[in-house]
Amino acid sequence: MIKKYSIKELLNKEKYFINKKVLVEGWVRSFRYSIFITINDGSTIKNLQIILSEKLEKKISKKITIGTSIRVVGIIIKSIGEKQYIELKSSDILIYGSTDPSIIQKSILQPKRHSFEKLREQAHLRFKTNIFGCVMRIRHHIAFCIHKYFHDRGFFYLHTPIITTSNCEGSGKMFQITTMDLKKSPIDYEKDFFKCKTYLSVSGQLEAETAALGLGKVYTFGPVFRAENSNTSRHLSEFWMIEPEIAFYHLNDNINLAEDFLKFIIKYVVDKNLEDLSFLNEYLEKYKNNKKEHLLERLYLVLKFPFKRISYTEAIEILIKEEKKQSTKFFHPISWGMDLQSEHEQYLVNKYFKIPVVIFDYPSCIKAFYMRINNDEKTVRAMDILFPDIGEIIGGSQREERYEILLQRIKDTNTDKNKLWWYLDTRRFGSAPHSGFGLGFDRLVQFITGMNNIRDVIPFPRTPNNAEF
Ligand code: 4AD
Ligand code: MG
Repeated sequence: MIKKYSIKELLNKEKYFINKKVLVEGWVRSFRYSIFITINDGSTIKNLQIILSEKLEKKISKKITIGTSIRVVGIIIKSIGEKQYIELKSSDILIYGSTDPSIIQKSILQPKRHSFEKLREQAHLRFKTNIFGCVMRIRHHIAFCIHKYFHDRGFFYLHTPIITTSNCEGSGKMFQITTMDLKKSPIDYEKDFFKCKTYLSVSGQLEAETAALGLGKVYTFGPVFRAENSNTSRHLSEFWMIEPEIAFYHLNDNINLAEDFLKFIIKYVVDKNLEDLSFLNEYLEKYKNNKKEHLLERLYLVLKFPFKRISYTEAIEILIKEEKKQSTKFFHPISWGMDLQSEHEQYLVNKYFKIPVVIFDYPSCIKAFYMRINNDEKTVRAMDILFPDIGEIIGGSQREERYEILLQRIKDTNTDKNKLWWYLDTRRFGSAPHSGFGLGFDRLVQFITGMNNIRDVIPFPRTPNNAEF
């Protein structure tokens, strides 16, 4: 039996494999002079060059087109060409599936540059492209090291429900689910599958809080759903969120954890995935209309300095001062109590501080019911982390652990108390200070890969008017 290797395995130990017989499988990327085939198997951005023997050339060269999947057996030799150190001298090639050249013409597999919009239209073929391959491999490494980070620090991975009856964030619309016949109205939800109205969850936080108040340290990592009609480059209707929740934790502990966590992930990816990052770095510099991106520099910048921490009130003061001092005019006028808009966040991060910014102690009127009220009774112990270009990447808070005050906040925000009796109970059975945050996974992948649009970092994007594939 000849052993099968991935291209990554072969290229990682090139010298070792010289003169060894191996089996490789992959898809044809190019076929030149009727003897050089390059293949890629997805394991790495790099391709392997195959040399066809004369005998094989006669037998199969007509059947080989871009995209054809093949199985090759042969001997690894040192390459004469300068582009690669090793190549595979084939003794046997089996064709699994070929591609009709006429359909390649119309597909994103045609070897030329395609727009990201075009790649999205053929999302099922994107996985075969260099750029999307890099993004997907990086996405995997980020997900993997998130589990590693929490596991190594004693957190437990908590699976929270996707089907829920409550709206954790209060704002924004939820997707409703039902098995009732929608043609008949009015619908009697007493007869529905769960005997009540149910939705796809916008967050696992409330369940994570109940778990943290018994297990101490937990985190969730799952899909969440938001039916907001936000057609921006940073919004998805279905996205992945990581929500750590920690008992006996105050807001500052929470911010420290979030900063350490983000830096750990970025450092991990730079260490483990430099090959893919460098490819993206070069690609983005080349094609982003002279807007120098310097992806890697941007990542190093995040690692180098402590994040800037300012209160919401300080942020508003800075923005007012800047608007007076400079010719900067914001589209949304600034006043205390307003929700910071993307233009304000971008100004603070990209222009003013030029590093990630943590804003804490937001007005209670613009934040969710579960955040702990400060002594000033006007602000809550909330924190948002803003990143260059992306804006808000993390949203979190210290939670309101005082039963009566929480109950009042639930009333004041018109939240349905009856759906939250179990959540309120956690404040009656040994309540304790606790905190947590939510990291938008896809936004982080977007930042690390330098992609302009969040739809280009998720395998199958769900956005308003789009649930194809
Ligand atoms: O700020 P959000 O809404 O916070 C929560 O859901 C809390 N329950 C988290 C917690 O404290 N446990 O969302 C958290 C993060 C945002 O900072 C953003 O990065 C991301 O989720 N996010 C989105 N990402 C993609 N598409 C959307 N539509 C998003 N909405 C929020
Ligand atoms: Mg938020």
